[in-house]
Amino acid sequence: MNASYQTWFKQKLAKLQTIDCYSAGVTPEGLAEQLGIDQSKIVKLNFNENLFIDRTKQTAIMKQLADEIDLRLYPEDEEAKLREQLSGYMDVPKDFLAVGNAGDELIDRIVRLFIEPGDVAVSFMPSFAIPRLCVKRQGGEYVAVPLKGDFQLDTDAMLSIFSDKTRLLYLCSPNNPTSNQMKPQDIEKLTKVFPGIVILDEAYGEFADYSFVPRIREFPNMIILRTFSKAFGLAMLRLGYVVANPELAAVLRDKAPLPYPVSGFTIRMGIKLLGNIDIEQTAVAALVAERGKLIKQLNQIAGVEAFPSQADFVLINTKAPADEVYMKLLKRGIILKKWGPLLQYENCFRVTVGLPEMNAKLIEALKQIQGD
Ligand SMILES: Cc1ncc(COP(=O)(O)O)c(C=O)c1O
Repeated sequence: MNASYQTWFKQKLAKLQTIDCYSAGVTPEGLAEQLGIDQSKIVKLNFNENLFIDRTKQTAIMKQLADEIDLRLYPEDEEAKLREQLSGYMDVPKDFLAVGNAGDELIDRIVRLFIEPGDVAVSFMPSFAIPRLCVKRQGGEYVAVPLKGDFQLDTDAMLSIFSDKTRLLYLCSPNNPTSNQMKPQDIEKLTKVFPGIVILDEAYGEFADYSFVPRIREFPNMIILRTFSKAFGLAMLRLGYVVANPELAAVLRDKAPLPYPVSGFTIRMGIKLLGNIDIEQTAVAALVAERGKLIKQLNQIAGVEAFPSQADFVLINTKAPADEVYMKLLKRGIILKKWGPLLQYENCFRVTVGLPEMNAKLIEALKQIQGD
């Protein structure tokens, strides 16, 4: 290799190392190996996955698709067909929709299209981490204003930093990790005056009280993000979509910029699930019912506070130090998402609403730990 290549490549690698990336932490496989137990014994409650989806029905649809799909062909018309179905599900015309590889990729797509080096993105904290990573990678600045003590938006503080440099506003509602929805009047107030694109992340929309989708026509600068990963239990396949006014939706569809970004199999799976909507509806209803029970049981444990939730997970704060609780749970084969300090709370965790038997193990373990 010539010297010019060597120097350039070394510098390039060093620069690439500085890119801040998402790190998933403990995996069920790794933990099972460490504990010397079968992986099926691990209680995985860290990723907000929806285990209430009937797996037998989901698998039956997959098998049906395996017979129907010709994998040798490019997925030419698939996206348009999915938009047709989604148009019924969301009750918006199909030119209000764009499809992508789940929420993360759509956030990345929006940031790549709308953020230039030096632009500023505004959000609040604590919230979902991916938008910040995408904005930073794009050479933008990310400013996050703390939520108020009741987990609602500090609109005055946010408004005070809007300027002709702030081109992206990321609002997550229901918010990950606080699990509440923001007040609609606050979202409206910020969106109406924001001098750029507003992403309203409704990844958990199906578990919540209200959505902005019926009001999308009022907000020409708003992109509402939705995913199949949560309510539809399709996290493995990576499918999501946005609802936005036609001009914006068209840019997101046409300037992706790769042709056929989403696999045809994935899209067809989405179409089938929308056509069998009872699978999703049954799962969401069961999860929401279990969520209520879980919150109640968690709050009955001395030294644990669980907050109300509009999502498929619950935020808790423990009296005992978060690191200690986290390690003790891991030893029992239970994985939560540790947050530690969050606003005025010291020891927070985000807990997926698991199946009843998983939640029972968590409750039992927390009782033991708090009693230690
Ligand atoms: C708030 C929020 N938005 C978006 C996503 C992205 O999900 P996906 O890429 O699976 O659609 C997540 C995932 O946890 C999330 O919590």
